[in-house]
Amino acid sequence: MYDVTPDQVWVWQKLEAIVTGLLQQYGYQEIRFPLLEKTALFHSAIGEVTDVVEKEMFTFTDRKDVSISLRPEGTASTVRAVLENGLIFNEPQKLWYSGPMFRYEKPQKGRNRQFSQIGVEVFGYPGPEADAELLLMTHRMWQQLGIDNVRLELNSLGSAACRESYRTVLIEYFEQHLDVLDEEAKNRLHSNPLRLLDSKNPDMKAVIKAAPSIADYLSDESQAHFNQLCAILDACEVPYEINRRLVRGLDYYSHNVFEWITDDLGAQGTLCAGGRYDALVEMQGGKPTPATGFAMGLDRLVELIVDKQLWQADAQTDVYVVWDKQVAVDQVMALCEQIRNDLPEITLMMHLTEASFKSQFKKADKAGAQFTLILGPDEMDKQLISVKAMQDRNVPQQQLSYQDVVSFLTQQLGQ
Ligand code: HAM
Repeated sequence: MYDVTPDQVWVWQKLEAIVTGLLQQYGYQEIRFPLLEKTALFHSAIGEVTDVVEKEMFTFTDRKDVSISLRPEGTASTVRAVLENGLIFNEPQKLWYSGPMFRYEKPQKGRNRQFSQIGVEVFGYPGPEADAELLLMTHRMWQQLGIDNVRLELNSLGSAACRESYRTVLIEYFEQHLDVLDEEAKNRLHSNPLRLLDSKNPDMKAVIKAAPSIADYLSDESQAHFNQLCAILDACEVPYEINRRLVRGLDYYSHNVFEWITDDLGAQGTLCAGGRYDALVEMQGGKPTPATGFAMGLDRLVELIVDKQLWQADAQTDVYVVWDKQVAVDQVMALCEQIRNDLPEITLMMHLTEASFKSQFKKADKAGAQFTLILGPDEMDKQLISVKAMQDRNVPQQQLSYQDVVSFLTQQLGQ
């Protein structure tokens, strides 16, 4: 867990503004839910035999001995919330959320114990159009964020019936290769054999590569769903790769699953991931409701934007007010308040202590000010304000009346 200091907060704010702006453009609505849920929700929704549930949740008992956990992701809570609030009763929903998630993982680059996601969950649309819209929207996000080194990997996990026959074949296959399986793989062989496919153990690489492919076990219906998704992406010119080993770490998925991956962040390069989870709503006590969604990791996106210097910080301060100690400070403050009334869009900082002009100008420079307004005894005598351009030293300093200062700043700062 870490602090975000002011020198990086602007990246977070801009990132969140671009992403949520796009979500609104596509007609998605925000939902907010608690950081804490009953632990049982995550066990039943995410799956008992997953890394998240087995070893990564922050779980404790409350004062009444109820087991609760900090949310490790948002899909389970969204499903609970839409059911509890009757939001998907005979109507589809396109929802998004944003905020911190918690997983007790081994911290490393791109992997934190508190991290932030913007997630999207769509309920009530069975066809590939909803999955396609999620991918088209994310593709547009990369363009707007200026991220180009990112690829889309797709797979289909089929229906529960497809997965059942595939599971049996996979177990039989891996049982013939017990000698190369590590302890974790052996433990999961019977409970969750699909997870063996995304093991990072190099000793198991060859065996995994030669394993039977889910493609051969998909029903016609599931294959058609997947093909239609690919056809939409082709028509919209969104490139993708089919990766038959992509299985995802949470158990609720079925049919189409996907990950957006960059090679610019090392091992933790998945920026955004998701897929369909058509069975989850019913499993949580609702009516059968098709659903699909994704979540993007904001920490990783910020890291990428900062590492690759994709964005430049905008000037933080438009106007800095410097003043001589012979000028009554109440008048200076009243003037600043007047400017804030008249020009509410500009960022105006007043120097808050008595100091030499030299040191005040240094502070104005450090704040990245476009202009300083100077109030000294001469200006007070003449009832004028000196205006100095800080970025363009060729512009001569000038003394203006209050009204002219307002017009000048309006014109210069595009207010
Ligand atoms: P997930 O793959 O577990 O899926 O997480 C989604 C994204 O969150 C990852 O691709 C990554 O960018 C980010 N992320 C996950 N764990 C960490 C971590 N420890 N540190 C930093 N970033 C991390 C889900 O959470 C699903 N709920 C997504 C979903 C929504 N599927 C359907 N709807």
